[in-house]
Amino acid sequence: MNYDPSDPNTLANPYPYFFALRNEDPIHWNTKLKSWIITRYDDVRSILSSDNITVDRLNNFYSKLPTKEAKLLAEIVKYLNLWAAFRNPPDHTRMRKIMMVAFTRKSINEMQPKINAITDATLSKLKNIREIDLVNNYASPIPALTIMHLLGVPIDMLDEFKSWSDDMSKFIGGARNDKHKYEKASRGCRKMVSFFREIIEERRANPSEGFLMDLINASVANDKFSDDELIATCMLILFAGHETTTNLISNGILTLIKNPLELSKLLKNPDLLDLTIEEIMRYDGPTNSLVRNVEKEHEFHNKTLKKGDRVFAMISSANRDENIFDKPDVFKIDRSPNRHLTFGYGPHLCIGAALAREEGRIAIFNFFKQYPTTRLKAENSFKWIDAIVPRGLKKLDVTLT
Ligand code: HEM
Repeated sequence: MNYDPSDPNTLANPYPYFFALRNEDPIHWNTKLKSWIITRYDDVRSILSSDNITVDRLNNFYSKLPTKEAKLLAEIVKYLNLWAAFRNPPDHTRMRKIMMVAFTRKSINEMQPKINAITDATLSKLKNIREIDLVNNYASPIPALTIMHLLGVPIDMLDEFKSWSDDMSKFIGGARNDKHKYEKASRGCRKMVSFFREIIEERRANPSEGFLMDLINASVANDKFSDDELIATCMLILFAGHETTTNLISNGILTLIKNPLELSKLLKNPDLLDLTIEEIMRYDGPTNSLVRNVEKEHEFHNKTLKKGDRVFAMISSANRDENIFDKPDVFKIDRSPNRHLTFGYGPHLCIGAALAREEGRIAIFNFFKQYPTTRLKAENSFKWIDAIVPRGLKKLDVTLT
């Protein structure tokens, strides 16, 4: 029962473990991770909306680091502390309101032609290629280019941006088994901060239209983001919107390849696309878990979660809870209702969900329109990322047909 997220069998298919935990030990203290593992749908929602539980897990962790590591991480921690995602009310409420001024339906709708163009251009690079890794050549560049466009980053910086974001994700995403993860995260952060500082200064000097300008100008009751808050928010949006959406696209393509009957149903009935995206999110979506810390001792189903304890709210498990979803282990593209928790729950609910759904719809459907009978290169030609927070693929080698 000791859930081990790095175990190759668990990584390949964590769902039987979650089933066992939901039924036998739903509030599970994990000795290896020294954390609580919460697996039932209602309990996950309760944790994510409890006042006793905080999103600030940085400072507790940071205060315990040896000096050398603390020094290395000082800058990244400074900026991560300014991410709305790591703040509690009232700071979080204030930042979220200012962010919402820029995240309008109009600004997302305006992205649609751009996402189509980015997807077409990415697809055209696959022409005349038979075997390819779809993560690096399709699922990753589409969200990267989309988010770069949103934030006004020149597209020729794609490789640099991707490497900074990957380096930071070593720390934020909880990658284990990487000895240099702190050095890499700190380097990625320094580069990103100086880039955003420059681009914000440049936009102020030469005002233009678009999301970044809206964010710079966003104000609620005369309150605006400080320069450091703006930089931190750009980093948050870049980070939050890149790897997650990459994983939506690659997990989605893999799931549809493995479920050819559902794929052909989708291709015959494109009006099922919206529901398909929701089902991909639920069935094997990009959010394996969300991390929280206990702020105030919390009694939960006869267990005591102590101040300072770490808690993993297992979204992947909640999304397969048999008390909520009918036949949860079946992938059914027309599942409705589908109240999955992949975009979170409570005050931190994803602010970019509309954009992510749009990218997922365009990237997944256009891929299969062009390559409807694509198959895996070999049975084991895909590899999962070894991490507990995101769920996504490192590679997905396919034969394009
Ligand atoms: C499929 C893709 C995506 C998934 C699965 C996803 C998932 C999530 C989840 C689960 C949260 C809540 C985190 C928590 O409670 O700790 C969240 C928050 C957030 N997401 Fe997304 N996201 C996706 C795409 C995006 C995109 C494209 C953007 C921006 C363009 C974005 C921006 C944000 C921001 C800014 C927050 C923080 C909100 C807050 O703390 O109030 N996300 N996302």
